[in-house]
Amino acid sequence: MPLAGKRIVLGVCGSIAAYKAAGLCSKLVQAGAEVDVILTASAQEFITPFTFRSLTGRPVFTSMFEPVTDQREEHVSLARAADLILIAPASASTIARLTYGLADDMLSLTVLASRAPVLIAPAMDSQMWEAPATHENVETLKRRGVNFVGPAVGRLASGNVGAGRLEDTETILGAVKAILARNGDLAGYRIVVSAGGTREPLDPVRFIGNRSSGKMGYALAEAGRDRGAHVTLVSASTGLPAPYGVDLVPAETVADMRAAVLAASANADALIMAAGVSDFRPAEPAPEKLKKGAADLILQLVKTEDFFHEAPGHLVKVAFAAETQDVIENARRKPQTHGRLDLICANDVSATDAGFGADTNRVSIIDASGAVEELPLLSKYEVAQRILDRMLPLLREKRR
Ligand SMILES: Cc1cc2nc3c(=O)[nH]c(=O)nc-3n(C[C@H](O)[C@H](O)[C@H](O)COP(=O)(O)O)c2cc1C
Repeated sequence: MPLAGKRIVLGVCGSIAAYKAAGLCSKLVQAGAEVDVILTASAQEFITPFTFRSLTGRPVFTSMFEPVTDQREEHVSLARAADLILIAPASASTIARLTYGLADDMLSLTVLASRAPVLIAPAMDSQMWEAPATHENVETLKRRGVNFVGPAVGRLASGNVGAGRLEDTETILGAVKAILARNGDLAGYRIVVSAGGTREPLDPVRFIGNRSSGKMGYALAEAGRDRGAHVTLVSASTGLPAPYGVDLVPAETVADMRAAVLAASANADALIMAAGVSDFRPAEPAPEKLKKGAADLILQLVKTEDFFHEAPGHLVKVAFAAETQDVIENARRKPQTHGRLDLICANDVSATDAGFGADTNRVSIIDASGAVEELPLLSKYEVAQRILDRMLPLLREKRR
């Protein structure tokens, strides 16, 4: 679980978006965090402490003057124990209070008394967000090292359309993980990951593609980020949201992917090729849309160039082998086209619970000596973590 053992203070302010904090709180708990919720007085006009007590199984803080009990700690202990203070939604009023260093309620007191990183997810009407006072307060807080995520642009409760929507839950979670990963075991390493299925144009409206969804590569990018790596994700996937805190480089064709992967690899430490890279492309894409005539259409396909072997030799290199038969034997042949590989991740993509499009995968990791580690059926995120576990000693070895 990416947030196991992390203590997060979740501050909720008086905003119509306060109801979304319940979903966010639930996700934090599911990710393994211990969540202590503080509701401002105004927040309690929108949502009750009972909701958060039920979600976290822990006492919820609404006042700094509540008596200290076995369950209820001393007023600054939350501040000391926190690994991160997340304020979502953060009101204009609380942002102003934090800028001036006030400590007149439990939330502002906790922020002032803590040395933990602070992440603010503002939510307010666009006119409040764009007001000079708010703008200057946000700039001041950023200068002091406070992190912000959002607000997003969209329809607001007031009916206005503009900046001020609470950022979506997945993005806020990504920001939480990225901040908490700063001291992770991959901090200081740069990893390039390719993901998704390349698309080779047949004409301006059609392409030859493949079934790679990009989920495995995106899981690798997120897992790398969650351990502190700087991740560049070269993606041919069109349907997945960009993971927060990851450099996303879109690539459509094999040629695009080659250029982006080689450019990003020049100063990277590792390259993981999880993309479905087309082996063939139409010999001559038509400049205009092909019309349906009387005759059948015969396509001539030419082989695409393998480029993995062109990536710098200093990289830890990991390749995926998607196979439908003789999985291990076929995967072992990968170096014939890819050059030296540190790890080969073989998966049987004919299975319904693993491979393309699925959220789970069953991968065998083959190392440079040929030894095979068969992983059980795991979520793609867990598979990604296991691959990174295997890469870590190789990365450390190269740094020596
Ligand atoms: C219906 C309603 C919705 C509100 N929504 C917001 C909001 O989204 N963002 C905001 O900054 N203030 C909003 N306010 C105003 C805050 O609740 C008010 O400024 C309050 O003092 C904030 O206190 P707090 O920062 O301690 O939670 C809203 C007020 C009302 C009545």
